[in-house]
Amino acid sequence: MSTEKISSDIQGQITRAAELLAAGDVVGMPTETVYGLAARIDSEEALKKVFAVKERPFFDPLIVHVNSIEAAKKYSKDWNECCQLLAERFWPGPLTLVVPKTSEISDLITSGLPSVGLRWPKHPVAQALLEAAGAPLAAPSANKFGRTSPTTAAHVRREFGDSLFVIEGSASDIGIESSVVGVKQNGSSFELSMLRKGAVLQSDIDQLLKEKNISYQWVEVTGKSEAPGRMKHHYMPSVPLVICKNPRLTMAEISQKLKERLASMPDEVEGVKIIKPKSDLTKLLILNLSSKPEQAARELYAQLRSVSDRKPDAMCFIQSSAHTGEMWESILDRLYKAASLILD
Ligand code: TXA
Ligand code: MG
Repeated sequence: MSTEKISSDIQGQITRAAELLAAGDVVGMPTETVYGLAARIDSEEALKKVFAVKERPFFDPLIVHVNSIEAAKKYSKDWNECCQLLAERFWPGPLTLVVPKTSEISDLITSGLPSVGLRWPKHPVAQALLEAAGAPLAAPSANKFGRTSPTTAAHVRREFGDSLFVIEGSASDIGIESSVVGVKQNGSSFELSMLRKGAVLQSDIDQLLKEKNISYQWVEVTGKSEAPGRMKHHYMPSVPLVICKNPRLTMAEISQKLKERLASMPDEVEGVKIIKPKSDLTKLLILNLSSKPEQAARELYAQLRSVSDRKPDAMCFIQSSAHTGEMWESILDRLYKAASLILD
């Protein structure tokens, strides 16, 4: 993480990545949340490549990664006191601020929205790449649209093959994507919206803004235009994930219920393919996560992948009352979107 020394080998990879970016290509970039698929914001060719490589629809905007608060200010038309306080407390780190954009940010990045998501990542390799590139980098998570996010360089290589250059940084320490928070000024007060939960918690933000005597309120944003990336399904592993909310069900009962529900499962929801189990369901594996939410988040995507690699017919996450608290909400948000089926 921030104390990680960058070896000369990694430095060489960063230089190579910066050259590729300058030539209009995309590269895999480690960050402390998940690995990203990076493009320079001034290269339309590279930005288009991000959508093509990811098979991502153009309605879902990209996050712009910067290397300082000063750089973020340059791309925001209304960098207010609230943005400044949030950035000073949580940057560099796993928080994306959605703010009104300037004309330097293309509609391709924001899907035509008047706002842009800005984040200063903490991972030293991401910071070094931003420095070497000399330009902000738009980067979604480096996975195909709707599928499990990557937390290691190996995950990215497996997703996109050898044709994509990936910097071999350390595994992502946080493990789930940044919290995405919209900030709007309304007179002397602010309206905040939690567009995606992550490791920067709503209570962390409340604590800061109360401490600083800021007048604000949380508003719920439900419209697709303001929260375009909030699909019902996302992060899907290659094997169907079932969430079981009743810890008393036996594995045999879970299998039986799954078989019963199979026929009524949709093939696709909002363009995301729903992974379905075979009807002769025999091998069911449990997704075991740490009871410590920070560790569970760190390991979540690698676990979804490693259980899938054991090729069960389905994997099951047993949800219990132990999975409560804000960090668990961020993890459960991913699990529910990754799940093909929820059993009560
Ligand atoms: O941790 C992260 O945020 C990672 C790393 C690579 O930085 N990136 C990431 O990007 O998760 P992506 O594209 O997978 O998710 C970005 C989310 C999407 O749900 C998108 O809809 C939302 O941020 N977003 C980006 N710009 C937005 C905007 N202007 N308004 C509303 N939502 C926005
Ligand atoms: Mg993503």
